[in-house]
Amino acid sequence: MQDLNIEANTYNDSVVRQFSIMAVVWGVVGMLVGVIIAAQLVWPELNLGLPWTSFGRLRPLHTNAVIFAFGGCTLFATSYYVVQRTCQVKLFCGKLASFTFWGWQLVILAAAISLPLGYTQSKEYAELEWPIDILIAVVWVSYAIVFFGTIAKRKVKHIYVANWFFGAFILTVALLHIVNSAAIPSSFMKSYSAYAGVQDAMVQWWYGHNAVGFFLTAGFLGIMYYFVPKQANRPVYSYSLSIVHFWALIFTYMWAGPHHLHYTALPDWTQSLGMAFSLILLAPSWGGMINGMMTMSGAWHKLRTDPILRFMIVSLSFYGMSTFEGPMMAIKTVNSLSHYTDWTVGHVHSGALGWVGLVSMGALYYMVPRLFGQKQMHSMKAIEMHFWLATVGIVLYISSLWISGVMEGLMWRAINTDGTLTYTFVESVKAKHPYYIIRLLGGLLYLSGMIIMLWNVLKTATSGKAATATIPAVTAHA
Ligand code: HEM
Ligand code: HEM
Repeated sequence: MQDLNIEANTYNDSVVRQFSIMAVVWGVVGMLVGVIIAAQLVWPELNLGLPWTSFGRLRPLHTNAVIFAFGGCTLFATSYYVVQRTCQVKLFCGKLASFTFWGWQLVILAAAISLPLGYTQSKEYAELEWPIDILIAVVWVSYAIVFFGTIAKRKVKHIYVANWFFGAFILTVALLHIVNSAAIPSSFMKSYSAYAGVQDAMVQWWYGHNAVGFFLTAGFLGIMYYFVPKQANRPVYSYSLSIVHFWALIFTYMWAGPHHLHYTALPDWTQSLGMAFSLILLAPSWGGMINGMMTMSGAWHKLRTDPILRFMIVSLSFYGMSTFEGPMMAIKTVNSLSHYTDWTVGHVHSGALGWVGLVSMGALYYMVPRLFGQKQMHSMKAIEMHFWLATVGIVLYISSLWISGVMEGLMWRAINTDGTLTYTFVESVKAKHPYYIIRLLGGLLYLSGMIIMLWNVLKTATSGKAATATIPAVTAHA
């Protein structure tokens, strides 16, 4: 009877523990595949002449593993952790929460098998075939029920801003996934998109851009709004700014998708609309970044001694950098140089490695010791080392691709006085070779940091034991 009472008064953290460990495991796997494809771009022989290990099949395996497996598990873990503590109640329907864990792992496993086998819908970031898409939809709707159910039964009147961001991310991803994945199956594991031609492209990049805006941004901003104040032990700099940030960001992101389709068959006015909204997007993005950074007011000295806080603050700087670069790349004339080049891949990884990666690592380092009843992570020195490996890795990765991207863009457009092209395409590929080696080195450093993190997390988890955190009886602010 007493056991039942304790059970009723504690948070449901077992699902948070499961997602946290798997986030780190999938991080290592996804980044390892990233390193392999980076090596294939340096030495194409590493394709091994086999269809299953060819670049074209491993690339989507990498993007799905890092975004949906690493990023996804981090988002599930953090949102379940945060929503319970800020609402001061246990997760709604624990069994359904547990189903979201096993269901999501099944999706990842199905992706890891079907992508190397060549099953794909050929839509970037939405490659998975229709039976897996249906499973994703079922898991996601269950996630929404658990998350919003927990909000509904909250003991605190106020809904903390982190939950607004998590909530918007969950709702929007459901909408994006269901609309973009609409397809007519022709057999098991083969289907055709419900849209055709330019509509198909538009729907795909409405999805693609908002996958960035909501999966890779809004959800991680939810993480930022809870974990930065917690780790810095300071309140959010401006709560009013966080509300303006929220509404401005979610409204603006929706319209920016066409910047992925400049100079295509898409109507010109749609492209200009996408460009204009992308430029406007700079304001809410920087509003959020400044709000996060200024939360450090009076606590800057902590950066000297606290590597976890450093992960979070450097991630915000990369967020600021990539959300400045993005709007610039959305300007049509700039895009005419950057599109199809490595500049885009550099931009992607300044957001992915710098923002998404570092903020996830910071939040996981915050949660793991608390989830396993430890005072701190097994080794703080290892966190310090991870931080430097990751930071140097990102700098090598993105600076080499900026140079190689701008260079190849300029080489493609260079023309002689008689109007012929100055360089052949192969010459531009050859010129990129040294930069691909530097990118590979950057990737290797980033991956080594992640492997150290896995060791540190497993050590912390095995030397501690599953902790039960009690729900406070008084409804004070969490
Ligand atoms: C060790 C770390 C990583 C390495 C070495 C790496 C490497 C690569 C490579 C070689 C590509 C293909 C580029 C091309 O086609 O030219 C790629 C694409 C991509 N990666 Fe990574 N990656 C890493 C981590 C990540 C992480 C953590 C994320 C997301 C959270 C990510 C997201 C992406 C995305 C979205 C693309 C597609 C880019 C595009 O279509 O423009 N990567 N990565
Ligand atoms: C204000 C914010 C941002 C704007 C306006 C923006 C704009 C852009 C533009 C113009 C492109 C190139 C499209 C092309 O030429 O094909 C692009 C590509 C991309 N961006 Fe951003 N970006 C922003 C922030 C971010 C962030 C924070 C991330 C990651 C966390 C990110 C991830 C990506 C990805 C994955 C692609 C590659 C899509 C693909 O072709 O596969 N972006 N972005």
